[in-house]
Amino acid sequence: MRHARRSNLVKFGILVLVTAWAVGCDEDGDTSQEADQVVEQEESAETEAGEETALVEVDEVDPYREVMRGELRELPPVPESLEELPQGVNIVQLEMRLLTGAMQNILQLIGDERLDEIPGQIRQVHPAYELTHQALEEGLYRPPVNPDQIEEFIAEDDEFHDVLRGLVGAARDDDLEGVTQYYNELVEGCTSCHGQFRFP
Ligand code: HEC
Repeated sequence: MRHARRSNLVKFGILVLVTAWAVGCDEDGDTSQEADQVVEQEESAETEAGEETALVEVDEVDPYREVMRGELRELPPVPESLEELPQGVNIVQLEMRLLTGAMQNILQLIGDERLDEIPGQIRQVHPAYELTHQALEEGLYRPPVNPDQIEEFIAEDDEFHDVLRGLVGAARDDDLEGVTQYYNELVEGCTSCHGQFRFP
């Protein structure tokens, strides 16, 4: 009996506390004022821009969707020959820019499991790789760091392109696990080569 009465008392006490807190909030004005402001903003958005457009605009500036907006990055075509390179960019820089775009696209394709579109990305970079090889063979290009180690540079480049071929094969086999491993290897290839030939 005593025990039950005490627990009722505790319940009553909690009720009093909760009520006091709720009244306090009201007197304080904080929470209710904020709510009023929200309502006011909604009202003004509706009257200023018209009810329908206001809603569409809010939808369009969703910053999270913005990150994924659009489809894959468009890769401009590789020039036909070394003579047709745009001014101010050498063939390795051009190849690297396309490679970076392709890698970003491929990451998106891996995330979406659209493996069949991966070979097309590599195919678009390939002519730049061939021009780079031509430039290296003709002595027209030297990397900014260790420019005298051209044999090693060519070897590193060939190794990287073997991994690219592996990636294309895994993508054609619809092998997501393999694609992921080759992708990792490619990223390691960027860092490894840059450590030797790009960044002092
Ligand atoms: C075989 C060597 C090698 C590999 C592999 C390599 N790079 Fe490079 N990269 C270079 C060199 C050398 C430069 C400097 C080019 C120059 O300024 O002449 C460079 C420059 C760049 C640049 C700057 C281009 C510019 O506009 O100046 C980017 C971006 C880049 N690499 C991205 C990558 C990415 C991403 C990867 C891997 C997916 C990668 N690279 C793999 C050698 C390599």
